[in-house]
Amino acid sequence: MAKKTTRYMCKECGAESSSWLGRCPQCGAWDSLTELARVIGAKAAAGKVGGSAAAAVGVRVEAQPLADVPAECATRMASGMDELDRVLGGGFVPGSVILVGGDPGIGKSTLLLQAAHLLADLDEKQGKVLYVSGEESPGQVRMRAERLDSLHPELYFLGTTELADVRQAIEQLNPRMVVLDSVQTIGNPELDTAMGSVAQVRHVTQALTRVAKERGFPLILIGHVTKEGQIAGPRMLEHMVDAVFYFEGEESGPGRILRSVKNRFGPTHEVALFEMSGRGLLPVTDPAGFLGGRHLKGEMGAAVTITFTGTRPLAVELQTLVSAPRYGTPARVVQGVDPKRVSLLLAVLEKSAGLELGGCDLFVQVAGGLKLDDPATDAALLTALASAHTGRPLKDATLFLGEVGLRGNLRPGSNLEERCFEAARLGFQSVIAPPVNGGFKSLPAGLVREVPDVRALLELSGALARQE
Ligand code: TYD
Ligand code: MG
Repeated sequence: MAKKTTRYMCKECGAESSSWLGRCPQCGAWDSLTELARVIGAKAAAGKVGGSAAAAVGVRVEAQPLADVPAECATRMASGMDELDRVLGGGFVPGSVILVGGDPGIGKSTLLLQAAHLLADLDEKQGKVLYVSGEESPGQVRMRAERLDSLHPELYFLGTTELADVRQAIEQLNPRMVVLDSVQTIGNPELDTAMGSVAQVRHVTQALTRVAKERGFPLILIGHVTKEGQIAGPRMLEHMVDAVFYFEGEESGPGRILRSVKNRFGPTHEVALFEMSGRGLLPVTDPAGFLGGRHLKGEMGAAVTITFTGTRPLAVELQTLVSAPRYGTPARVVQGVDPKRVSLLLAVLEKSAGLELGGCDLFVQVAGGLKLDDPATDAALLTALASAHTGRPLKDATLFLGEVGLRGNLRPGSNLEERCFEAARLGFQSVIAPPVNGGFKSLPAGLVREVPDVRALLELSGALARQE
């Protein structure tokens, strides 16, 4: 007999409570708490499933000196797919839970099936890899695996929408990695809430996280992002997992970017670049070329800068188009940078250089579909906008770095020297950037042209006519 527990779960947000309450303390929903004990008691008795509440019963742990706890990080499982491994921080960490989110159709299943195959193939003695799909039939997944040349005797497939089946398969196979495709399509039908609901997704994540930690296998949860940019509700999975990655790109083009937004075991803001081909995802071997960062020829409205993502500098082109408005409200289409940042730069352009772009139609995009969250790329965006407005091309072989302040001043931002090295490596002859304390002694002489403010930056860039 399973031990009787009296716990309650909110149908709206999945929060658990030891007593019944009229209102959920977590999300504030009224009359949403239902008894969890019956469900879990029955299932646990059948030896199939135990939710977090049941699993917690009778478990006794003792505190110990932290120095006595064995280090776990030495045993990373590298997939051999270098781009992926770098974003992971060197490979999958046993017992860790990773969420991979992205729009439907972007290539999440493809990426994880390739990774699952590589891992299965790496060392057969290490055990099986389990791929669970609640979305596609075994036949469909087999067809994809054939196309990706990813069939392998150690790669197992389970087609189900029930958590109990997943737990049973884990019990039987003792896998070294489990992929859940997708976390929204797997649930516990005995919970009094719809499949795919926030409460179900939370329940599944909690239950399988416990199993992953106990058995020490990495668990990969695939999650569809809804239109509002949320994974199964209010991004509530992000704080429950060890790492969160987003897979992005324009579906019409081949470029795909895997971005780490949280990683307890590796760098954040790291990106991996892939191209979707007829045979799955291929790593991008020339990132600068992929992101337009090799454009040495000065153009109107386009400027190259270096962003720092996690551990590596990436050269990327910012492209802008400015035209006089034809209808009432000016159009403003901004992709890959924060629109608020663009508004700030427009205000600085007006105040510091007298360039009025506010009433113009305005388009901004980052080459390759990269999303920038890096203030040191401000100078390039500002210069590109100014050049698009004045119609003057920027100087050849020139790259722009620096963070723009409200007073029209420039600040160096992080890793300026490393960014400059990358610029030199790619063949840029000058980098226009703010001065730094102590200067740039180890960089090639004459590479960096220091400018204190936006006015000097624009004059040197070629976007403005030089005032004698
Ligand atoms: P998929 O991995 O199913 O996306 P998700 O799991 O994120 O919904 O990928 C879907 C798209 O990728 C689909 O439009 C077909 C394309 N694709 C290729 O171009 N090449 C391939 O080798 C594979 C497997 C898919
Ligand atoms: Mg899929």
